[in-house]
Amino acid sequence: MITFPRMKICCIGAGYVGGPTMAMIALKAPKIEVCVVDMNAARIAAWNSKTLPIYEPGLDEVVKQRRGKNLHFSTDVHGAIQAADIIFVAVNTPTKTYGVGAGRAADLRFIESVARTIAEHANGPKIIVEKSTIPVKTAETIKDILAANAHGIKFEVLSNPEFLAEGTAIADLQQPDRVLIGGERTPGGEKAIRTLVEVYAHWVPRDRIITTNLWSSELSKLVANAFLAQRISSINSISALCEATGADVDEVANAIGKDSRIGPKFLKASVGFGGSCFQKDILNLVYLCEYFGLPEVAHYWESVVKMNDWQKHRFAGKIVRALFNTVADKKIAVLGFAFKKDTNDTRESAAIAVCRALLAEQAHVVVYDPKVPADEIRHEVLGNGKDDPRLTVAPSAYEAAEGAHALAVVTEWDEFKKLDYKEIYAAMEKPAFVFDGRNILDLAKLKGFGFRVSGIGKQG
Ligand code: UDX
Ligand code: UDX
Repeated sequence: MITFPRMKICCIGAGYVGGPTMAMIALKAPKIEVCVVDMNAARIAAWNSKTLPIYEPGLDEVVKQRRGKNLHFSTDVHGAIQAADIIFVAVNTPTKTYGVGAGRAADLRFIESVARTIAEHANGPKIIVEKSTIPVKTAETIKDILAANAHGIKFEVLSNPEFLAEGTAIADLQQPDRVLIGGERTPGGEKAIRTLVEVYAHWVPRDRIITTNLWSSELSKLVANAFLAQRISSINSISALCEATGADVDEVANAIGKDSRIGPKFLKASVGFGGSCFQKDILNLVYLCEYFGLPEVAHYWESVVKMNDWQKHRFAGKIVRALFNTVADKKIAVLGFAFKKDTNDTRESAAIAVCRALLAEQAHVVVYDPKVPADEIRHEVLGNGKDDPRLTVAPSAYEAAEGAHALAVVTEWDEFKKLDYKEIYAAMEKPAFVFDGRNILDLAKLKGFGFRVSGIGKQG
C-alpha cells in the first residue's frame, strides 16, 4: 500500500484569527498536521495551557479535542516553516501610527518581516496564504520579497481572507457563508488554489468556496467590512433623527429590514461599532482610494468612521447633559468594556471613547465587564502603565452601581438583561439614570422602578 505523507500546515500568528481558524482545520481535517506559531512565548504558553489566551465560546472544546494530536502551538517559527507545505500568515496589520499614511494606511512591517523569515528558512516549495487583512496588492509585495530572497525556491501566494466575527467564531468557521480564495491565474497559481480548496472541502460545501484573482480577493475583504460598518453608521445616523422626532430606531430597523433587498442583519443601532477590523479596514480603503486619485470615494467611506466617532461622543454627551450638565465628581457605572458581547477583546471598543470622555468631564468612572481584566481596562483607557484614581474597575455590576448617579450599558452582555434593577435602583444616588447604549433593557420597566431612562434612537 502506498502511504502519502501527511499534509502539513503552519500558521504564523496565534491571535484571534490564526488560533480559532487553525483549530477548526485541525478538527475537520484530522489527517492534516497543523502547527500554530507565534513570536510571543507567553501567548503560545497560554494556547498550551488550560486557559486559552482568547475567550471564544466553543473554542476550548475544539482545542481540547485536537491539541497534541494534529494541532500544535509552538514558538519554533523556523522549524514550522521548514516542515510546512502551506503557510498561513495571520499576523497583525495595525493602522500606521507614523510617517506616510499615519492614521490610515496599514502597517505592513510584520507582514514583510514574516515574508523575509519564510524566504530565509524555507527549504522547498511552499504555498503562502495571506489570512491577515491587508491592503490590495500586498500579495505582490510578499511575492516580490520572497522572489528576491528565495534562492531558487518556488512560492505561490494566495489570498484567503477570514470573515469570522468574534464571539461567534466557531459557528462562523464551522458553517461559513463562503470561503474566498484568490490566486494567480497561472498553472502554478491554479494548482495552489486547488490545494487550498481541498483543505476547506473537508467540511465546506464546494459551492461555498469561491475562487477569484488575487486582487479581487484582497479587495473583497475590505469591501465586506466597509459595507457591514456602513450599515451600522447608517442606522446610527438615523438613531439621532429618531431621538429628535419621536420615532423609535428599533421599529424603523425592523420595518426596513423586512424588505428582502435590505435584510434584517447589522441594523442594530448602538453606541458605536468597535473591534480590530471595521475602522482599520475602512481607513485602509480610504487610503487606497486617495492613493489611486479617487478623493470622492475616499470621503464617502471616511464618513462611515466619522459617523461612528460622532455616535460615541454623542452618547457620552447625552449622559453629561442629562445629569444637569455636569458629571464632575459624580460616579458613573459603565457596564461592559469589550467591543461586543462574548469576547474579551477590547480593541477600538466604544467603551474606550465613552470612558475617556467622562473622565475628561471629571467623572468617577467605575467599569464592570464579565471577561475583560482590570489591567486591560486601565491600559486601554489611560495608556500603558498609567493610573487615574477616577477610573476604577468593579468585580460585579452591582458593586459598580453602588452609589452611582448613572448606569451606562456599553456592551450587550446577556447578564445585563437579567440584573435585579430594583435592587440596583435602591443602591444608587437619586435621581438615578440609565443610558442603554445597546437597546437591550426594558426601559418601560426600569422607568417603573423610578429610573430616568434613555436608549439609542428612542424617547426616554
Ligand atoms: C490580525 C489582524 O488584526 C487582522 O487585521 C488580520 O485580519 C488577522 O490578523 P488577530 O488575530 O485578531 O488579527 O491579531 P492578533 O490577536 O494581534 O494576533 C496576531 C499575532 O501575530 C500576535 O500573537 C503576534 O504576537 C503575532 N506576530 C506578529 C508574530 O508571531 N510575528 C510577527 O512578526 C508579528
Ligand atoms: C467583523 C466582521 O463581521 C467579520 O466578518 C470580519 O471578519 C471581522 O470584522 P467583528 O469585528 O469580530 O467582525 O464583529 P461584528 O459582529 O462584525 O461587530 C463589529 C462591531 O459592530 C461590534 O462593536 C458590534 O457591537 C457592532 N455592531 C454590529 C453594531 O453596533 N450593530 C450591529 O447591528 C452589528
